[in-house]
Amino acid sequence: MNTNHHTDPPATMRAVVQDRYGTSDTWHLTDIDLPRIEPHEVLVRVHAAGLDRGTWHEMTGRPYLMRLMGFGLRAPKHRVPGRAVAGTVAAVGADVTRFTVGDEVFGVSRGAFAEYAAAREDKLAPKPSTLSFEQAAAVPISATTALQGLTLGHVDANQRVLVIGASGGVGSYAVQLAKTFGAQVTGVCSASKADLVRSLGADHTIDYATTDPTDGPTRYDLIVDIAGNAPLRRLRRALTPTGNLVIVGGESKGNVTGGFGRSLRAPLLSIFVRQRLTMLASTEHHADLLTLTALIDAGEVTPSVDAIDPLDHAAHAMRRLEAGSVRGKTVIVMPHG
Ligand SMILES: NC(=O)c1ccc[n+]([C@@H]2O[C@H](COP(=O)([O-])OP(=O)(O)OC[C@H]3O[C@@H](n4cnc5c(N)ncnc54)[C@H](OP(=O)(O)O)[C@@H]3O)[C@@H](O)[C@H]2O)c1
Repeated sequence: MNTNHHTDPPATMRAVVQDRYGTSDTWHLTDIDLPRIEPHEVLVRVHAAGLDRGTWHEMTGRPYLMRLMGFGLRAPKHRVPGRAVAGTVAAVGADVTRFTVGDEVFGVSRGAFAEYAAAREDKLAPKPSTLSFEQAAAVPISATTALQGLTLGHVDANQRVLVIGASGGVGSYAVQLAKTFGAQVTGVCSASKADLVRSLGADHTIDYATTDPTDGPTRYDLIVDIAGNAPLRRLRRALTPTGNLVIVGGESKGNVTGGFGRSLRAPLLSIFVRQRLTMLASTEHHADLLTLTALIDAGEVTPSVDAIDPLDHAAHAMRRLEAGSVRGKTVIVMPHG
């Protein structure tokens, strides 16, 4: 570890800790040792951390399939939740070449709901200069997923693009990014968030409570399906004959696979039809963070941060996310700011 610290990190830190799967009641705030960093990792002094649906899945261990996929069989593999991070480099591992102590960074870490988090060097990038730490923490996972979803779907200028789940973490970026590609965007969300989705640039909005977005006369070149678990045959109906479907996510009541079967069936069916049906498994790499930074610093994409909660209110923030009350993104800030 490089010992060239501005100020040496303390021995312990405040962190949200979770020792078993469950509701946000399993989260408690306590003092624990700082994470150890590997040679290719950076210790980030966390200023802000992003909250997203992935954090909910890791908290609950649902769908159960994910426990078999390496997230921890009986309890979360990582005791400290949260992954999206923005902060200042406090120490670097021996093999780190891109960062030095004091750099302002954002990206994906292990255990972001803490005063310090370890992050692989290749999952971090310099923080966009036009963003606060709070805004930057809202970018890494959600915006990267949106960018990868649109890229996988071959988004292009003048296409008709349907974003299902447009008012959420991923969707709020998908709408803005699709507009930067020159697409005509229809966003699906609840009526109370239609104003937000329009302010993000959507040309049209559809309220999923009153209107089935796959039912109308419009045929879309690309559907980015982030929410709702609509059946594949309905989604295909709303696509042009050679349109692209990208399944990003969507919550369902199924505890075992969580509706994942639809994502697996889509690529199989795609072999036999002219439409291209794909599922996204997002990956984290700093190249996407750099692409997003260029768009952010050019003023083309802005994180939609709805609420900023202190670390000791993290469970409250999670309950708001579960209740569907968040408009865009929620961010957690650390006691040391
Ligand atoms: N494939 C991947 O690699 C990947 C990566 C990241 C996330 N995901 C998944 O993507 C999904 C979305 O994540 P997120 O962080 O954006 O979640 P989020 O912030 O909770 O947003 C959920 C969105 O879904 C909308 N919605 C809820 N019920 C709906 C329905 N019946 N029909 C249409 N829209 C509905 C919500 O609209 P209102 O709030 O207006 O009701 C909101 O826009 C999750 O399932 C997550 O696990 C997948």
